[in-house]
Amino acid sequence: MPIRSILAGTGAYLPSRVVTNDELARTVDTSDAWIQERTGIRQRHFAAPHETAAFMGTEAARAALAAAGATAADVDGIILATSTPDQAFPATALRVQAALGVTRGFGFDLSAACAGFIYGLSVADNMIRAGGAKGVLVIGSEVYSRILNWEDRGTCVLFGDGAGAVFLRAGDGSGSDRGILSTHIHAQGTLGDILYVDGAVGQRDKPGVLVMNGREVFRHAVTRLAEAVEEALAANGLGHRDVDWLVPHQANRRIIDAMGRKLGLPPERVVVTVDRHANTSAASVPLALAEAIADGRIRPGSLVLLEALGGGLAWGSALVRL
Ligand code: COA
Repeated sequence: MPIRSILAGTGAYLPSRVVTNDELARTVDTSDAWIQERTGIRQRHFAAPHETAAFMGTEAARAALAAAGATAADVDGIILATSTPDQAFPATALRVQAALGVTRGFGFDLSAACAGFIYGLSVADNMIRAGGAKGVLVIGSEVYSRILNWEDRGTCVLFGDGAGAVFLRAGDGSGSDRGILSTHIHAQGTLGDILYVDGAVGQRDKPGVLVMNGREVFRHAVTRLAEAVEEALAANGLGHRDVDWLVPHQANRRIIDAMGRKLGLPPERVVVTVDRHANTSAASVPLALAEAIADGRIRPGSLVLLEALGGGLAWGSALVRL
């Protein structure tokens, strides 16, 4: 019997503090008009001190388990994608494990910046299909507000905080095509200097802030994501018309619209949260997915294409039948 990873439940968490462009413009040399025109962002959520990656990841994971009708006893492993962990170790995934009351299985953090959730899905899917786990939480949780350079208006207006999670459950893949159909992940380390954080705990007294060459990232994002989308469809013998929903990484409305056009999808088939969440990095795809499932847009049977690209460069796609 072939095993498939079924997307059994999704969950989300956003800090209650909402920061509008106008509020940012009080301390940063920018304007609501500039931010909206170049990015589509209207507001973002910023975490309070207690809202760490572990805290938010736990809340999103709890919601995903509840949506799946699962409990802590069903969790064989936790993969948490983040660039803003609570501590160097233990892994943030293990703080989540403890908070959820999961007492067995594995857990680790995954560093692939904005592509982290897609990477996590890929790892979890391969483990499940190989029989190594039956229930895996994949979480993206980020507090980018803590790594932004408030002197750099070209980056500090682009990001927000939040967490999203999915619970994957091993299912029978012989009867239907429900579940993760494929994942593809890629990286090009030679492009590491166009988007990075210039420090970490491994560098004394240099926690680091985000640095980006926005134009270069934009150029690579459009090309690489278009390739990733075509690769996913070709691997499954599917065409553009088969896709019901695109759930793209939420970095910039212009990149999202370009991807929708390439797929020939009308705007109402593309899930957009960047206007309200800004770029929440590894959390952006699961947050958008959770929102569109919760409000009934994405229904059982829908074919959903997920894609993301971020620092590394790292990028990838996943094709999922709900
Ligand atoms: N408010 C007002 N003006 C700003 C600004 C801000 N927040 N940020 C930059 N500017 C100014 C610049 O100083 C520049 O002014 P100048 O022409 O007088 O020098 C001008 O706007 C254009 O800057 P530029 O960086 O060329 O703008 P852009 O059109 O490339 O847009 C981004 C900038 C960041 C919105 C765009 O490059 C982008 O979205 N890139 C991709 C980013 C991304 O997706 N990153 C995450 C991937 S995970």
